[in-house]
Amino acid sequence: MATTAAAPTLRSWAAPAVPSLRGAGIADGRVSFRGAQWRVSSPMYVLGCRAVMSAENRDVSLASSELERGKQNEGEFSHSGGEQRRRVGRGSRLVGSGSAVPKTLISNEELSKFVETSDEWISVRTGIRNRRVLGEGDTVTTLSVEASRKALEMANVKPEEVDLLLLCTSTPDDLFGSAPQVQKLLGCHNALAFDLTAACSGFVLGLVTATRFIRGGGYKNVLVVGADALSRYVDWTDRGTCILFGDASGALLLQAATDDQDSLLGFDLRSDGNGQKHLHVKIDNEEDPSPSGAESNGSAFKKPGKASYECLQMNGKEVFRFAVRAVPQVVEGALQEAGLSSENIDWLLLHQANQRILDSVSDRLHIPAEKVISNLANYGNTSAASIPLALDEAVRSGKVKAGDVVATAGFGAGLTWGSAIVKWG
Ligand code: UT7
Repeated sequence: MATTAAAPTLRSWAAPAVPSLRGAGIADGRVSFRGAQWRVSSPMYVLGCRAVMSAENRDVSLASSELERGKQNEGEFSHSGGEQRRRVGRGSRLVGSGSAVPKTLISNEELSKFVETSDEWISVRTGIRNRRVLGEGDTVTTLSVEASRKALEMANVKPEEVDLLLLCTSTPDDLFGSAPQVQKLLGCHNALAFDLTAACSGFVLGLVTATRFIRGGGYKNVLVVGADALSRYVDWTDRGTCILFGDASGALLLQAATDDQDSLLGFDLRSDGNGQKHLHVKIDNEEDPSPSGAESNGSAFKKPGKASYECLQMNGKEVFRFAVRAVPQVVEGALQEAGLSSENIDWLLLHQANQRILDSVSDRLHIPAEKVISNLANYGNTSAASIPLALDEAVRSGKVKAGDVVATAGFGAGLTWGSAIVKWG
């Protein structure tokens, strides 16, 4: 009988010594994390080498010899390098916002021409009157580039000064993620860019994630983009869902600041996969019509079918119940962490799903209607874009001013939900 070597007990198992990612400088043979950087002992393998972080003094500086060696091996895909010396803080300030929506507008009246509904039903049950959907030339990427440009302009930050670009989306133009395309088109040569998927909660999760990169990673300028195009996944014959959604993108620029300037005052983030059944866009695996390999040549390998996605399916009533129960809890949790109560907030900015949800949540939190930001009449539910889109409009119209405290909360598929209490400016 074969014997198996005894597995080490958890007590006796010791992790191999791993060089700290937080140490100052990089010694040969170490793996360092910043701006997609992997390095082994030979300069032959340096990829996109650019900066070294010291967590002790939060000083991010360029190691010139590292850069030189990196340049020697620079290929088509390397960062441009050429970075200035930076000293960054641990707090994050919200210093820029931008948004973009497609030109194509679908009103309730127009919708009622192809599904059995009416302007009255939609506006009374949801508050929505119009939505924008992708038209010719529009993509999640193009909208995100436009929204990001506006945020950079407001923040007076150049594209090459961006260190991280987080694209919060569940509907990228490429299954592998669209953030690097947004990065490329914006000219953010020095940024690390990747996607974050959490449906309608994506932006709140991305915002908090961005602050962690600033606090723990020495990043200075972070673009957080929320963008979605659910019009691509909606069943346009299902009146229970197609009336709700629209496409858009919104972006915020977060900048490293001192601890006492920190804009993120508190947060509370949650998820529960048990609720997936109430809202999902599932993968639809087509069966391969050709005979299986086993039948044709004796191989056990069966060619997988080509995958696509089903249309969005939702149990509206359940999602509604979940939202009005769970959202006030996380807002209260985040306020508690911030040492605040609902009277201290200037604005309540919820994911723009349904006016009745906004009203019910604000009632439960005893927040008066005049403090509730709502623009869903014009855009419907734009998923991850809804919060930055509404915030951008409120900032640009002068409604939200520097120093205002905004309680944000996202909720949706996953299920995921969460709240972040932020200070604008
Ligand atoms: O990002 C998060 C994602 N989702 C949400 O936040 C959605 C949350 N849920 C909701 O917003 C609401 O549940 C909906 C707006 C989706 C639906 O409103 P409801 O008040 O829950 O309506 P219902 O589904 O209970 O439908 C009531 C009636 C039904 O007719 P009967 O059975 O009473 O005769 C529906 O067939 O309204 C009918 N109906 C419609 N009638 C005209 C459903 N959709 C429509 C429609 N137009 N578009």
